[in-house]
Amino acid sequence: MAESPLTGGPSRSVSRAARLRGEPRLPGDKSISHRALILATLAGGDSRIAGAGDGRDVQATAGIMAALGATVERVHEDGLNVDYRVISPGADGLHEPDGVLDCRNSGTSLRLCSGVLASLPFFSVLDGDASLRSRPVARIIEPLRSMGAALYARRSDTLPPLVVIGLTRLRAIDYTTRVPSAQVKSAILLAGLRAEGPTTVREAVATRDHTERMLRSRGIDVRREPEASSGGGPVAWTLDGGARLAAKDDRVPADPSAAAFWLVASAIHPDAEMTLRAVGVNPTRRTAIDLLVRMGAQITETPVGDVAADSDAGEPLADLTVRSSELRAIDIGPDEVAAAIDEIPILCLAATQARGRTTIRGAGELRNKESDRIDGIVTGLRALGAKISVDGDDITIEGPSQLVGAPTLTLDDHRLAMTFAVAGLIASGSTSIDRGDSAAVSYPSFFTELERLRA
Ligand code: S3P
Repeated sequence: MAESPLTGGPSRSVSRAARLRGEPRLPGDKSISHRALILATLAGGDSRIAGAGDGRDVQATAGIMAALGATVERVHEDGLNVDYRVISPGADGLHEPDGVLDCRNSGTSLRLCSGVLASLPFFSVLDGDASLRSRPVARIIEPLRSMGAALYARRSDTLPPLVVIGLTRLRAIDYTTRVPSAQVKSAILLAGLRAEGPTTVREAVATRDHTERMLRSRGIDVRREPEASSGGGPVAWTLDGGARLAAKDDRVPADPSAAAFWLVASAIHPDAEMTLRAVGVNPTRRTAIDLLVRMGAQITETPVGDVAADSDAGEPLADLTVRSSELRAIDIGPDEVAAAIDEIPILCLAATQARGRTTIRGAGELRNKESDRIDGIVTGLRALGAKISVDGDDITIEGPSQLVGAPTLTLDDHRLAMTFAVAGLIASGSTSIDRGDSAAVSYPSFFTELERLRA
């Protein structure tokens, strides 16, 4: 590891690749891995989770489940993924944790666990690293308080640490989320499992629906209005409190948000071809794939597994093959931003290589992620020679531009680190990525895969 010319801290450097070929290994889906650990703990009994992503975020949730009384055993690990065995007494047998629950860098751990803790009759405190302490929690406090739990946070209930004093019998609510957020929706549904009566969450734009699918596959009657699962559009989800959650083994699909880095790397590189195996292509997660195809990316998709693409239980999977492509600019609207929220940084890099002006409108939620991702992506891509500008919450990128290797700042944000590393594969010279190791938050073997692809 080298020293960052910008901060003097540890940095990675990536040089231009002559050619990219191969099948990068992908981490298990981060969203599904968190949920599998939580649902195994709530259901009780003995559950196996195969192929969970072994990034630091999912490890944080595993640690929290253990602190609440589950036995979380790492049965097999390979430096990227881990198989867990969870033995739990079930929701009624969990106990007050002895110390602060450490979410580390993980907003998903913080939000999902607050929903769970709201329905458990004890005191807990959720905290994390400096980035997590700057992320909004009012969006979670408001609905969970209206269900009857007591929640408090720093700076007038806006920032972590977050205190939760739960209640065994919560009030059911009918709640419309203020921003499209699968974390907030999931927290309310998880709390609703133990509420009196039916809990409904309404969202203006459909966000990822893994919680709903996983609850259904554990015997919970989760109703969707409208019924058809087409992705996009307004949607309402309802479940009844008090139903019994059945234990179930899970196999976690490969993470489409991790796959997006390689889809873009291959599409923008002049001599590339890669295949990504058994990637989750749930309609609420595949927007980045569809946007890249709209930009002209040559992606072929072969369904694998036995879950149909339009099924509303289980997770549809596909092998994706992607090769060097001529990209063109597109217009990405606010609903597409919400649906591809984690892939916007890498899509910005794709846009620097697309002919014409790409606009990304209504991207304000990116400021609330592991870093201010609008600031981070604009500063980093500009340093590499891209033509990118911001007006309020809108981003405009003119392409194509020849990128030139330079030092970049990740702000300790895994998705920025991986975006700048992929940029390094096409930039002239060498690109240094300050604190590139933050990639391990979601993708522990990312730099190993990157070096293997150029070999
Ligand atoms: C996630 C939801 C999204 C996403 C995050 C994972 C989830 O966050 O950015 O990486 O697993 O529910 P928001 O709910 O804040 O949009």
